[in-house]
Amino acid sequence: MSRKIHIFDTTLRDGEQVPGAKLNKRQKLEIAQQLARLGVDIIEAGFPCSSPEDLQAVKNIAQQVRGPVITGLARAVKEDVDAVWEAVRDAERPRIHVFLGSSDIHIQKKLRRDRNAAVEMAVEAVKYAKGFCEDVEFSTEDGSRTDFEFLCRIIDATIKAGATVINVPDTVGYSVPEEYGSIIRRLRESVPALDRVILSVHCHNDLGLAVANSLAAVHNGADQVECTINGIGERAGNASLEEIVMVLRTRYAGQLHTEIDTREIYRTSRIVSRLMNIVIQPNKAIVGGNAFAHSSGVHQDGVLKDRTTYEIMKPEDLGIKQQRKIVLTARSGRSALRHRLGELGYHLEGDVFERVYSRFINVADRKKEIRTQDLESIVEIEVSKVAESFTLHSFQIMSGNTLMPFASVTLIKDGEHKTDAANGNGPVDACFNAIERITGVCGKLRDYDLKAVTMGRDALGEAMVRVEINGVVYSGIGTSPDVIEASARAYLNAFNRYFVNGIGAVNGINAVNGMKAVDGAKSVNVGERTG
Ligand code: KIV
Ligand code: ZN
Repeated sequence: MSRKIHIFDTTLRDGEQVPGAKLNKRQKLEIAQQLARLGVDIIEAGFPCSSPEDLQAVKNIAQQVRGPVITGLARAVKEDVDAVWEAVRDAERPRIHVFLGSSDIHIQKKLRRDRNAAVEMAVEAVKYAKGFCEDVEFSTEDGSRTDFEFLCRIIDATIKAGATVINVPDTVGYSVPEEYGSIIRRLRESVPALDRVILSVHCHNDLGLAVANSLAAVHNGADQVECTINGIGERAGNASLEEIVMVLRTRYAGQLHTEIDTREIYRTSRIVSRLMNIVIQPNKAIVGGNAFAHSSGVHQDGVLKDRTTYEIMKPEDLGIKQQRKIVLTARSGRSALRHRLGELGYHLEGDVFERVYSRFINVADRKKEIRTQDLESIVEIEVSKVAESFTLHSFQIMSGNTLMPFASVTLIKDGEHKTDAANGNGPVDACFNAIERITGVCGKLRDYDLKAVTMGRDALGEAMVRVEINGVVYSGIGTSPDVIEASARAYLNAFNRYFVNGIGAVNGINAVNGMKAVDGAKSVNVGERTG
């Protein structure tokens, strides 16, 4: 009989710890709703004590998303547990997730305690959480580097205190499959109480082994895998949900299964990439742009004769739509656009539809045909747009290899046109400088990525930027057949995020990782937000 593996998605918590990937509550809700459609078993929606905004975002999800268990992360202290319970109490199926470092490195260097005190703290926190909620998960942070006897002891004690799920993370991505698999097997053999609870794993990708380690754990008795969409997460990221799910489906069907609707994988990946502004590398397994592209003549010939010569999965099983024969052009009206959007699963109404339509016409006027990827790019940018303080009206560029690049930009603010001009190292830099002169805000460009959404000389360019403003990183995205315009739109999008979220959000809260500064004098020394 096939054994079910529970999928615990932590995109909205560990994934959101990526600098610049901070989401607002509307965006978090949109991702959570998509995760529910994808069929994950558990959504870790955030770290409620990190900020009042995150608590509210998790609460919204708990109140509105039905199906998966909804949880939030808490350090092993009462105030964190209180915050999680406040956030998840309205969920159909709430869970409180408590963690505490269990390795000597964490206990001595971070918590500045000893092992006995750590066990006591973990037990107290689990009992306290259990007073609110039947379902309590306890994570032994840095579990893979924890002394094995002590790991057994803290796990046994927290199960006796009421934990229903025990998670043993490879927090720093240090383990290797044989070692991690053997930790899980030996835990099963040494802690009989584990038979009464769910045994979970949570792997980071510092050595590129997060998925391999998770699979080794599953083969040795783990019931739950914690993972993220596109493998995003702290540092090198977490185990990628889509890779775990597709390995189980492609290689272990009949023995192991998940309840993920794989046809929702591609769309979920795109939504997360867009809303968090994290580009997916083209060769990323399962969801990368090249994952199903065959470029060598030998491969193309083989695939044309029989798909299975070079393809081990079907793109349609992941929800990757084939290019349609009917193409949209500037002459396609609202109903053709609405129809095509519906086919792609976007049911847009009112203002959002009108914004998409007007951007579609603007792009179609300059590009012969609008392909599926163009449309997805336009829709996802317009749908995720924040309220704009400044809108791009127009720009002119003078550039060449013998003159100093120059840009004149006109933005609209509150119905008023504001124009200014600037030089720069290149035309994009000149545009950015002109935008800064108009908005009166200076940004440091931390990251800039430009790619073509489709093939061909008239391809739509998609620019993604990360801009540091007043010590906080904001990301922005823009698209246009003109790469300078795409870049200017992305830069302005980051500035608009600053105007919406940033100005009031700096009081004690670092919007880069959402962590409230811990007041050294007053706080309990349990370590800062980690993952
Ligand atoms: O990586 C980790 O150890 C974590 C825990 C807090 C679960 O993210
Ligand atoms: Zn983590």
